[in-house]
Amino acid sequence: MKKSKLTLLAAALPLLLNSAYAENKEVEVLHWWTSGGEAKALNVLKEDLESQGISWKDMPVAGGGGSDAMTVLRSRVQAGNPATAVQMLGFDIQDWAAEGALANLNDLAKAENWDAVIPAALQSFSKYEGNWVAAPVNVHSTNWVWASKKVMDEVGITEVPKNWDEFVTALDKVKAAGKTALAHGGQPWQDATIFDGVVLTTGGPEFYQKAMIDLDKEALTSDTMKTAFDRMRQLRGYVDDNFSGRDWNLASAMVIKEEAAFQIMGDWAKGEFIAAEKVPGEDFLCFRVPGTEGMVTFNSDQFAMFKVGEDSAAAQAAMAKSVESPVFQSAFNVVKGSAPARTDVPNDAFDDCGKKAMADLAAASEAGTLLGSMAHGHAAPAGIKNALYDVVTNHFNSDMSSDDAVKQLAEAIQGAM
Ligand code: GAL
Repeated sequence: MKKSKLTLLAAALPLLLNSAYAENKEVEVLHWWTSGGEAKALNVLKEDLESQGISWKDMPVAGGGGSDAMTVLRSRVQAGNPATAVQMLGFDIQDWAAEGALANLNDLAKAENWDAVIPAALQSFSKYEGNWVAAPVNVHSTNWVWASKKVMDEVGITEVPKNWDEFVTALDKVKAAGKTALAHGGQPWQDATIFDGVVLTTGGPEFYQKAMIDLDKEALTSDTMKTAFDRMRQLRGYVDDNFSGRDWNLASAMVIKEEAAFQIMGDWAKGEFIAAEKVPGEDFLCFRVPGTEGMVTFNSDQFAMFKVGEDSAAAQAAMAKSVESPVFQSAFNVVKGSAPARTDVPNDAFDDCGKKAMADLAAASEAGTLLGSMAHGHAAPAGIKNALYDVVTNHFNSDMSSDDAVKQLAEAIQGAM
């Protein structure tokens, strides 16, 4: 017996409908988490999503600080093919939102009560015109020093340096003993990361606010800023001969392997120590850039969610939901070296450096000493940040005077505004 056309159509309809709305259970994630510690942390998220039946398409773009990732992102978007989620910092999120490229996460944010649990300092980057466009993963901060306990003991540094002079005395001791005092990678974003801490210790939080966030010309050309450049010059005297171009995680490895005493770096460095099975307090110490105790220059990695087809929206929302879950927030940030992006995550699972990061963050937020990191996109938009990178790096790698440096800095920033 022949089936009527109608019967055939009826049989095919569910299939047709299914394919029209077939759910895409994959998220493509663009990120720059390629070091050992970073990759371990990212695995926590991959595994979480895989356990929910969501597969992970990895789009890694190596290069700390993410400038290269942002270049790749631009060409992907221009080709009409953005990733589902993109690791992003501060002002970049606002820029992409202003271009209309980001999805609206309000329904999820409301259902999950994000407004109440995510700190205001992060919300100001995760929301654009009142709408949630990104899911914050963590809070890092840049004004940290990572130190080899063994090297400190060897050269007779018995106390953690508490101010700039003590820090210089400690650096001198290491240098005199023939070891590398400061492990550093000469890349613009790393030079700028050091600069965050140097400006903060030199001028204090109000000065940092005026110079790096308000971009006040007087502050930028002040004697205080000149002193900050003098101190950058001082630090240049403590790096090894091969510092140029070195990746940040290789600089961390120098401290881990007890070849160098100190690294000034954000707390993603801790991820490398932990991945190498080093124990805080025993093998390594974490302390604030001397003179910046009680102050925090922060950055927050967020997943900016791009506008994707209807078929991918569910997987995208599932990813955003997982990222904000308190269990994930603890599991991920313990490995990553960061503090959670929500205020209600218990600190039990965190080591001493992690506990300090969380406590410092809460205290700085309370005291008004929580400031956006210039080096990591939370003080000013990319154009200004990159202008600062150029001057700081040129100064670090030449014999430019501090007088010239502040002049160039003010001009470069002015030109980028
Ligand atoms: C920062 C980012 C960190 C870490 C670091 C080095 O910008 O916030 O999560 O990845 O770069 O890659």
